[in-house]
Amino acid sequence: MSHVLGLRCTACGAETGAEGMTYVCGACGGNLEVAYDHARIRKALTRESLARDADHSVWRYWDLYPLHDRSRIMPLRIGWTPLYRADRVARGLGLREVLLKDDGRNPSASFKDRASAVAVAKGLELGCDKLCGASTGNAASSTACLCASIGMSPIIFVPASAPKAKIAQLLIFGATVFTVRGSYDDAFDLCLKATAEYGWYNRNTGYNPYTREGKKSVSFEVCEQLGWEVPDLVFVPVGDGNIISGVWKGFRDLLAVGLIDRLPRLVAVQSELSSAVVDAVRGDGRIRPVRATTVADSISVDLPRDGLMAVRAVRESGGMAVKVSDAEILDAIPFIARGAGVFAEPAGAASVAGLRRLVADGALRGDERIVCLVTGNGLKDVDSAMKIAGRTIAVEPAIENLKAAVSKLGMG
Ligand SMILES: Cc1ncc(COP(=O)(O)O)c(C=O)c1O
Ligand SMILES: [Zn+2]
Repeated sequence: MSHVLGLRCTACGAETGAEGMTYVCGACGGNLEVAYDHARIRKALTRESLARDADHSVWRYWDLYPLHDRSRIMPLRIGWTPLYRADRVARGLGLREVLLKDDGRNPSASFKDRASAVAVAKGLELGCDKLCGASTGNAASSTACLCASIGMSPIIFVPASAPKAKIAQLLIFGATVFTVRGSYDDAFDLCLKATAEYGWYNRNTGYNPYTREGKKSVSFEVCEQLGWEVPDLVFVPVGDGNIISGVWKGFRDLLAVGLIDRLPRLVAVQSELSSAVVDAVRGDGRIRPVRATTVADSISVDLPRDGLMAVRAVRESGGMAVKVSDAEILDAIPFIARGAGVFAEPAGAASVAGLRRLVADGALRGDERIVCLVTGNGLKDVDSAMKIAGRTIAVEPAIENLKAAVSKLGMG
C-alpha cells in the first residue's frame, strides 16, 4: 500500500491510478489532483519528526509528495527559503505584521523550482527520458536548471518576448530552446502538440498534475517557520493559478495530517492587464480568456490553465481577489527592495502591490499576520526594474566635479 491513493479529477471527480503518464481526466479533460492517505502520513510526519530532520529543503516533507524513489531527487537545495519579518514595510502600511517569503532565493531564482523538483522527479520515476515544457520563462529556466543538475537537457517552448535573463538561463543550462513567435498560450499549446507527436514527458503548469504537488511545499515551510502557527492572510501572484492552488493544497494537507488546526485566507493578485482569475472570482466563477499584456511577464496569461482550482482556493479559503495596475506592480519593486532588502521581478512584487491596494481600499483590519509570496528574483528582469529604479549620477573622475554634484543633491 502506498501513501498515494491515486489521481482525482478536479472538475468531475473521476478517479484514476497514479502509475502511468496521465495528465488530465480521461472522462472530461479536467485537471487532476493527487489524493493521499492522510491517516497513514499522519503517523510518519509529525512536528517531532520534522524537528529532528536536518534536511532543510522541500524534501523534508517527503511523505506528502507523490514520489517513491528518493534516489531521483536533484542535488540542488530547493526551498526552505527565508521568511523575513518586514517590519518597516508593515509600519509604513499601518499593519501589525508583514512577512516576505523570498522565493527568489531558489536555485534558478524563482518559486518554480518547487514545482520542477517534484514534476521532474516524478517524470524520472515514470521512466521518461525526454522532458519538455512551455513557460513564460521561470518554469522553463527552473526545469533547465534542475535537469542540468542531473545531466538532462529539456526541450523548452517560451514566447519570443521572454526577458533576456530567463532565455540566458535556459541556454546556459543547456536546454533546447524554441522561442515561439506568439504568446505564452501559443507556446503552451505547441508544447502539448509536441508531447502528442513525440511522447516527451510534459511539465506544463496546470497540465502536469505534479507541479501543484511541488508548489504546496511553500505552505509547509511558512507554517513550520512560524512555529506551526498559521498566518491570517497569504498574498499570491497569479498567472495560471497553479501556485495559489498549490498553496491551498499545502495548507489543506497540513490540516489533514494534523500539523495545523486552521486554514489561512488566500488573496489572489493579478495585473488588471491579465486578470482572468480575479474576474472569475468576482463573477460567476467561470474562467474566460483575456488578452494579457502586463509588464509582469510571469503572470501574463490569456487562459489560466489551473484557473478553476485558483478560483476554488480563493473562495474556499474565504479570501479575496485583487487587481493592480502595472504602475502599482512596478512601484512595489523598490518599495520592498528599500523596505526589506528583497529585490523582486515584477510578478514577484505583485503580491505586495496587492497588499498595498487592499490597505488603500480599507479592506484589512490591520492586526492580521500577513505573508506575501515574493516569487521571483529582480535580476530576472532588469529592464522592468530600470523603469522604476531612479537615475544614476554621472560624474567626471575629479573631486571638484563630485563636490558640485554632492552640493546639488544637498548632501554636503
Ligand atoms: C515569478 C512568478 N510569480 C508568479 C507566477 C504565477 O504562477 P502561476 O502561473 O502558477 O499562477 C509565476 C509563473 O510563472 C512566476 O514565475
Ligand atoms: Zn473529469
